[in-house]
Amino acid sequence: MTTPAPLLEVDGIRAAYDRVDVLQGVSLTVAPGSITCILGANGAGKSTLIRAILGLTPPHTGAIRFDGQAIHGLPTHRVIARGIACIPEGRKVFPKMTVEENLRVGAYQVDDAVEVARRIEQAYTLFPRLQERRTQLAGTMSGGEQAMVSIGRGLMAQPRLLIVDEPSLGLSPLYVKENFRIIGDINKLGITVLLVEQNVRQTLAIAHHGYVLSQGRLVAAGTAQALAANEEVRAAYFG
Ligand SMILES: Nc1ncnc2c1ncn2[C@@H]1O[C@H](COP(=O)(O)OP(=O)(O)OP(=O)(O)O)[C@@H](O)[C@H]1O
Ligand SMILES: [Mg+2]
Repeated sequence: MTTPAPLLEVDGIRAAYDRVDVLQGVSLTVAPGSITCILGANGAGKSTLIRAILGLTPPHTGAIRFDGQAIHGLPTHRVIARGIACIPEGRKVFPKMTVEENLRVGAYQVDDAVEVARRIEQAYTLFPRLQERRTQLAGTMSGGEQAMVSIGRGLMAQPRLLIVDEPSLGLSPLYVKENFRIIGDINKLGITVLLVEQNVRQTLAIAHHGYVLSQGRLVAAGTAQALAANEEVRAAYFG
């Protein structure tokens, strides 16, 4: 059996906002078709890692490859054009636009109106609630519904890699459960997922592989099963 080439490869990156390195040499891989998770406490550098991948806080050292090609140093719109979509922390819908307009924004790189309509239908199949509320202003949707809008918008680009930063933050347990189910469904559609979460138990239940980030360094890595059984991970994150 041969291991497939990684879809995403982060190789020894260091990144900083000012002089201090927030990422102090991070290396990881995301296998095609997988759900790979990044766990870690507040301030560990998880969002910064995502910013580095997207070219928003480019690494000053190291390399990032997507599908075998270097993407570090590319402007964000070109990273996205390669097939990476991100659902940022805090969701961030366009509040004054309707649900459907929000979805359309996610497909701004697609010219074909028929194709855009097809993707909107696909989003409505995943989230029937959005179809019911298609003309409602996104800013008036509940927190859990806005999470759906933001995931739906991310999918409109039909990315090969979907990066999700703390999708369950601030949601009630029911919505958290629903969110995890949907991320699993999205992965089953064939989309590779890089998931950043603090909800360790539920994350490891749907992820295949994971990494633990602490103060800008990886301190553990392995299959989700192995991480769930790892004593240090348990002590630090399962309470
Ligand atoms: N724009 C910024 N300017 C300066 N420092 C920043 C900036 N954004 C983040 N930092 C710092 O970088 C470190 C890592 O932050 P980051 O947002 O990556 O953490 P995180 O793991 O995503 O945390 P959380 O779980 O709270 O979202 C923190 O110490 C934070 O204060
Ligand atoms: Mg964060």
